[in-house]
Amino acid sequence: MSVIFAVFLLPVAAATNFPYTIPDRWNGGVSTNICTTPDVKLCGWEMKLVFSVNVQSIAPHDFLLTNAQSNSRVYYIKNQSSNGDRSAGQELCIGFNADVSGTSPVVISRLVFTKTSSDGQPCPATVSGAYADVLGKSILFYEAQRSGPLPSTNRIPWRADSALNDGSDNNRDLTGGWYDAGDNVKFNFPMAWSTTTLAWGLIQFRAGYQAAGELTNVYDSLRWPLDYLLKCWDSDHNEYWAQVGDGYADHSQWTRPEDMTAARPSYKVTIGSPGSDVTGETAAAFAAASIAFRSEDQGYSARLLQNARSLYDFAYNNSGTYTDSVPAGDFYNSWSGFTDDLCWASAWLYNATGETVYKERAMELISSNDQVEFSWDNKNVGCQLLMYEANHSDAALKALVENFVNRYRSSVTKTPTCELSWYAKWGTLRYTANAALIAMVAADVGIEDTKYREWALSQIDYMLGANEAGRSYVVGYGNYPPQRPHHRASSCSSDLNQPCNWNDYNNPGPNPNVLTGALVGGPDNGGNYADARSDYIRNEVACDYNAGFQSVLAGLVDLQARGKLPAHTNPCFK
Ligand SMILES: *[C@@H]1O[C@H](CO)[C@@H](O)[C@H](O)[C@H]1NC(C)=O
Ligand SMILES: *[C@@H]1O[C@H](CO)[C@@H](O)[C@H](O)[C@H]1NC(C)=O
Ligand SMILES: *[C@@H]1O[C@H](CO)[C@@H](O)[C@H](O)[C@H]1NC(C)=O
Ligand SMILES: *[C@@H]1O[C@H](CO)[C@@H](O)[C@H](O)[C@H]1NC(C)=O
Repeated sequence: MSVIFAVFLLPVAAATNFPYTIPDRWNGGVSTNICTTPDVKLCGWEMKLVFSVNVQSIAPHDFLLTNAQSNSRVYYIKNQSSNGDRSAGQELCIGFNADVSGTSPVVISRLVFTKTSSDGQPCPATVSGAYADVLGKSILFYEAQRSGPLPSTNRIPWRADSALNDGSDNNRDLTGGWYDAGDNVKFNFPMAWSTTTLAWGLIQFRAGYQAAGELTNVYDSLRWPLDYLLKCWDSDHNEYWAQVGDGYADHSQWTRPEDMTAARPSYKVTIGSPGSDVTGETAAAFAAASIAFRSEDQGYSARLLQNARSLYDFAYNNSGTYTDSVPAGDFYNSWSGFTDDLCWASAWLYNATGETVYKERAMELISSNDQVEFSWDNKNVGCQLLMYEANHSDAALKALVENFVNRYRSSVTKTPTCELSWYAKWGTLRYTANAALIAMVAADVGIEDTKYREWALSQIDYMLGANEAGRSYVVGYGNYPPQRPHHRASSCSSDLNQPCNWNDYNNPGPNPNVLTGALVGGPDNGGNYADARSDYIRNEVACDYNAGFQSVLAGLVDLQARGKLPAHTNPCFK
């Protein structure tokens, strides 16, 4: 299929003219989608929906009723969190089903705004600038990683449907989710950690997403891996599908997802061959996301929480290491063991439910050792921080979090001039960004404020350009951004009819498709970096690389919106 068609077929929404006769009418009901174009900026809205006949009830798709109404010609409605913000002249469409007896025509006479800002308050400041810009771009990176059938809202023109048979080898639908990195495997362990960490950022820094105008996008973005991970957990049969695609076969080919021909086997963990690491992390993702979605979609939030509970029990009761049965050991081995994953899951379930059993579990599993890494593998410090949030009297936990952040601030290797806290050769920037997230949340929790935020900001400034190489480490952003990230789909022609193979890998030129928003691995400890596609150590991208990074950006935008961005302490910041 050609991508050109997808572009031309995008529907053009049009404002509805009132009175409007709803065409989709059946005996007893109607279904419709209507649009209006406000001529003012909206930051929260309420509207009056007036029918020509009595309507028994309406079931909104994407708005809320302001109170319980029924058997009325007039319904008062209001925005939900994802569609409260609109710039002047931007179309606003809402859909609903309604129960209306009989079959005679149903006409909507009017749809009028009764309030154009929530609580009549002035609209909060919107924030622009580097952090808001890169925040939006990072969400685009995740969109470029989508597997499965793409929705009509897809914003990445060089991507199309792919891997539509995932799971069919086991008679299951395992389509969807994110491709892992520059490759096309779906590795659930890092995918779930990325989801948890993005949900954490959304819970903690929702106001940052809102100020950047990215709330709708981030919710859309998070649903993608969540919908997939929900498919992976079969609570009726106690099976969890932990990977789709063969890492070895996938890595031996250079092809875009749309062209894949190699078999994509799916692998599961079960009671007999358990994996508490991957299932614990997925339970954490469901629990954290259930909190993030509470204000947005209560039904989805409840479904996530229910699955978090059942998957948590499965992970906790059947302990084991997933790589004993899933061939992910050479790619995403759980080096830290599974205790940290279960601790993290317990902490998130405690926060989502307030039930003591989860708190007790977290405190049984928690590490009392200083941590040196927060990552897809090791989330001990995340559990320490969450449990400190739950008990501010626990000085030992506070000290562990302080030691972690202070280690990054002072004792890890620094690059020579611009002082990146450099942790590891392979994909160093993501470790720093992850530590910056711990610092940002710790600052909110009152462990420390200015120093932690300054350090986090100095590291993000480094990634965006204040570095020895004087370049951006984010594709599609800033000065001299990476043009040759190690990434199959973006390295090939945007014309999907053209071949995609090792010739594209070996092409000395830039990737034809800009993988906007992707944070690359980053420099060596001397601040040296080369924009080479073959350099998967410094120039690959991955879902886990952007997760902490994006959450910190949301935190920075939140501070900016409140006029509280700290000083730029990066010595190379201009
Ligand atoms: C409506 O939109 C405003 C502005 O985005 C937001 O603050 C408010 O929480 C939204 N209302 C609901 C019920 O989500
Ligand atoms: C699994 O563990 C939970 C506690 O997390 C317990 O309530 C439940 O009965 C256990 N289920 C099975 C099947 O062992
Ligand atoms: C969850 O965490 C938030 C942020 O620390 C806190 O305000 C809230 O009280 C917690 N809820 C529970 C039930 O622990
Ligand atoms: C909080 O932590 C302190 C110190 O470890 C402990 O004595 C106390 O029992 C904890 N409080 C709760 C409610 O768990």
